[in-house]
Amino acid sequence: MSSLTTKYIEIQNVEQTFKTKKGPFCALQDINLTVAKGEFVALIGHSGCGKSTLLNLLAGLTMPTQGTLLCANREIAGPGPERAGVFQNHSLLPRLTCFENVYLAVERVFAATENKAHLKARTDAALAMVGLTAAAQKRPGEISGGMKQRVGLARALAADTDVILMDEAFSALDPLIRADMQDQLLQLEKNLSKTIVFITHDLDEALRIGAQIAILKDGKLVQVGTPDDILNRPANDYVARFVQRRTGAAVAHHD
Ligand SMILES: Nc1ncnc2c1ncn2[C@@H]1O[C@H](COP(=O)(O)OP(=O)(O)O)[C@@H](O)[C@H]1O
Ligand SMILES: [Mg+2]
Repeated sequence: MSSLTTKYIEIQNVEQTFKTKKGPFCALQDINLTVAKGEFVALIGHSGCGKSTLLNLLAGLTMPTQGTLLCANREIAGPGPERAGVFQNHSLLPRLTCFENVYLAVERVFAATENKAHLKARTDAALAMVGLTAAAQKRPGEISGGMKQRVGLARALAADTDVILMDEAFSALDPLIRADMQDQLLQLEKNLSKTIVFITHDLDEALRIGAQIAILKDGKLVQVGTPDDILNRPANDYVARFVQRRTGAAVAHHD
């Protein structure tokens, strides 16, 4: 989205139509969006507007009915080593410890090229990044929802991808833990210069953590801009109303 920096993710004229019993349903239409390397984009919209559909395309889990998605100048044709996903249902394996859950992801990516000591070091480092060193030997049933979410994030970080795709990853967290996770994520983004596409249906969350905000309505992007653009220069009545309803959270500063 920034013209000064390199384009890293490019979504070009993307359309996604699903076949349903009632006929074709167009979930995404005319989607054009560019994300620069190291940029933090919050994709926001009400339930059912097509957010997960778009994230699944970026993750390479599905293919668009029209248009192209590129990452690092290559067409996205499946899951790739430069992209990792964090989802709302963190899907941890219940019998494995936090360490083992993260280690599995590390093994998948690096087992072919690195020895066990390196894999273990990567796992320890990822757990440390999200503040879970002390909980490494606990199982999912023994930790809080926020900690489980952090294990999910550690798994994505451990895979050491350039891009992290997050689909309502913090939605199930209670407000205090959620704010804490948002701060941690911003810090990680700064320190590791990850490219992050963060889906949320919460405008306050988007304004707080997104350097760029893309607003999706009924499968179309209605505005892409900075938090300041969205708040002070809404592109249309829909965005203006969306903004008016917000409860008033602080806007984080990206620099
Ligand atoms: N595989 C599918 N088949 C048919 N319709 C789908 C499919 N996936 C999503 N949809 C529809 O597309 C719309 C957007 O869904 P989704 O991307 O999950 O929304 P969001 O994540 O913004 O809540 C919804 O109306 C949903 O019912
Ligand atoms: Mg969704």
